Amino acid sequence: MGRVFVAGSINMDVVATADRHPRVGETVAGKQVLYFPGGKGANQAVAASRLGARTTLIGRLGKDSFGTELKAFLEGQGIDLGYIKETAEAHTGTAIITVAEADNTIVVIPGSNGLVSAEDVGIVPLVKGDVAVSQFEIPLATIAAFFRRARAAQARTLLNPAPAQKFGRDLLELVDILVLNETELGLLAGTELSDGDEVTRIIDVARRLQASPDQTICVTLGKRGVVALAGREEIVVPGRVVKAVDTTGAGDCFVGALAAQLADSAALREALDFANAAASISVQRMGAGPSMPTAEEVSAVLN
Ligand code: RIB
Ligand code: NA
Repeated sequence: MGRVFVAGSINMDVVATADRHPRVGETVAGKQVLYFPGGKGANQAVAASRLGARTTLIGRLGKDSFGTELKAFLEGQGIDLGYIKETAEAHTGTAIITVAEADNTIVVIPGSNGLVSAEDVGIVPLVKGDVAVSQFEIPLATIAAFFRRARAAQARTLLNPAPAQKFGRDLLELVDILVLNETELGLLAGTELSDGDEVTRIIDVARRLQASPDQTICVTLGKRGVVALAGREEIVVPGRVVKAVDTTGAGDCFVGALAAQLADSAALREALDFANAAASISVQRMGAGPSMPTAEEVSAVLN
């Protein structure tokens, strides 16, 4: 069984819950303020580890109280933390989140995540069969260095280009599996895509983005499930009907679960089905990191 290596962000999520989101310039009364371990990289690593993959997280924390709390949380997740550095040069990554009616808005301040360097990822012991995972909350040059190293070791590379940002063809060409939502796909392909778009149209847009004939592109569609283009093959996994309380980190749960399955040599269709079920569990719980399910919980949903 391969390992999952995640190079990515670690954030403290400062969450305000309210009955509805404020409009620009408006103040609304909140209900609670909650502190959850988050950050796309950490969330994906927690999901992969809880789902049974041997997982390593590469990242940076600040030398402050958020850093200490996040480290304590991650130590309880069975993740290899040997490649996490602590820095006095920046505060720990922080996300300011509003959750209302199960939807969220997020302002993320990178802090220490902005310092994760090509050197940090340059010493990671990737081998054939491993899966290298990253997202856009660390510098893009670091991700490219990480993926080049993975390619050289014949490990697979999985990129989740979130939060959405345009990026160069040189990085796209280093990606074996691209996992993104329809908004991110629209931005990268230079076309508007929205909730209601037909699956055939989404597949067409994904095909235009495909950097090589064997690249896999998975488009998560929220409660509508996921569609994937794997080389020529098209896979559609329908959504699962659940009552969501907090969708923060659902995409990360999907990515971590998919990586864990692929490291365990699962076929893509089964891996997508599993990841989709895992994400449907995470949205039924508050918070990002702490809402990630275990393999037993996912099996219970699938059977
Ligand atoms: O994807 C969800 C994550 O995005 C949150 O945990 C927050 O930290 C932001 O990075
Ligand atoms: Na959640």
